[in-house]
Amino acid sequence: MLVLGIESSCDETGVALVQTRGQDAPILLADALYSQIAMHQPFGGVVPELASRDHIRRVLPLTREVMQRAQRALAEVDVVAYTRGPGLAGALLVGAGVACSLAAALGKPAMGVHHLEGHLLSPFLSADPPEFPFVALLVSGGHTQLMRVDRVGSYEMLGETIDDAAGEAFDKSAKLMGLPYPGGSHLARLALGGDGAAFKLPRPLLHSGNLDFSFSGLKTAVLTQAKKLGPELESRKADLAASTQAAIVEVLVKKTLAALSQTALKRLVVAGGVGANALLRSQLDAACRQRGIRVHYPELAFCTDNGAMIAMAAGMRLQAGLVDLPMLQGRYAFDVKPRWNLSEFLPGPVPAG
Ligand code: KG4
Ligand code: ZN
Repeated sequence: MLVLGIESSCDETGVALVQTRGQDAPILLADALYSQIAMHQPFGGVVPELASRDHIRRVLPLTREVMQRAQRALAEVDVVAYTRGPGLAGALLVGAGVACSLAAALGKPAMGVHHLEGHLLSPFLSADPPEFPFVALLVSGGHTQLMRVDRVGSYEMLGETIDDAAGEAFDKSAKLMGLPYPGGSHLARLALGGDGAAFKLPRPLLHSGNLDFSFSGLKTAVLTQAKKLGPELESRKADLAASTQAAIVEVLVKKTLAALSQTALKRLVVAGGVGANALLRSQLDAACRQRGIRVHYPELAFCTDNGAMIAMAAGMRLQAGLVDLPMLQGRYAFDVKPRWNLSEFLPGPVPAG
């Protein structure tokens, strides 16, 4: 089956085409992405209305590009998948509206996908995909979660953030250091030239005894430190960036190791934008090597939002028999779920919308 995937939950328009194949992970035939980062940068964050309008401009040209690259015709597409949530309501509506209209025009089913399931399954796009079961650390701009994944559609929440997400902690700290949006990668780059032990910053919930996270206090501590430095901030920025990164990464690594020992699983998947962080990767790699645990990451291009992970998640759900295609056929009414807990819709078939 050919599955077209459309992602439009935030500030990236992504489209991709995958082909399902028996029990092996679906294969990616082509993908295309347009990032709105430059458009939002002057505002220091995503402007939802601008995001929606830009998705409208990009989604069809990207779809054409994907079909052309894959050398396939739209009429060959068997299922049109789209991100149903969570994300920005207006932005989601663009992807959902276009996907359902396209599916209706083609007479094929449309299927809503959970954005986080896309991130979770994104390592299956790599040449060395993981095997089930595994522990997943999902670290994005909006979510920080540890999950036990036994198979497609079976996700047990082990712990999550009670306030800010790890990516948010990176972004907010970067913003108050005067770095451009989105701050995570800028802060990481600046941190390369700094000393991670220069400032003592809190490691929230490190010894809480559970697998939950909290990052809002850290952001406040960074702000306090920045104010204390005053004019000196400029010359100590790299140290402050390195210390912030060290605090976030230490908490993520320790909690992930605790999740691995709690579940006794020997495989770890790291997904979401913060999974691109080099310090996080090197510390997880080192700790997991010592413990005989294999770590899988999505390819860098598929760490942040993209259409390939949405097409992949849809393809894997279809292959796992979790989707009632005849039930979806002809049903093109849709809704979006800006707030949507992954455990809410799983296990079971994707709702028709
Ligand atoms: O998964 P993603 O693209 O979007 C969401 O679904 O939220 O993640 C974006 C987040 C942003 O907070 C961004 O600053 C962060 O990932 N990020 C990084 C790095 N690259 C992206 N954070 C730390 N280090 C990086 N290298
Ligand atoms: Zn995302």
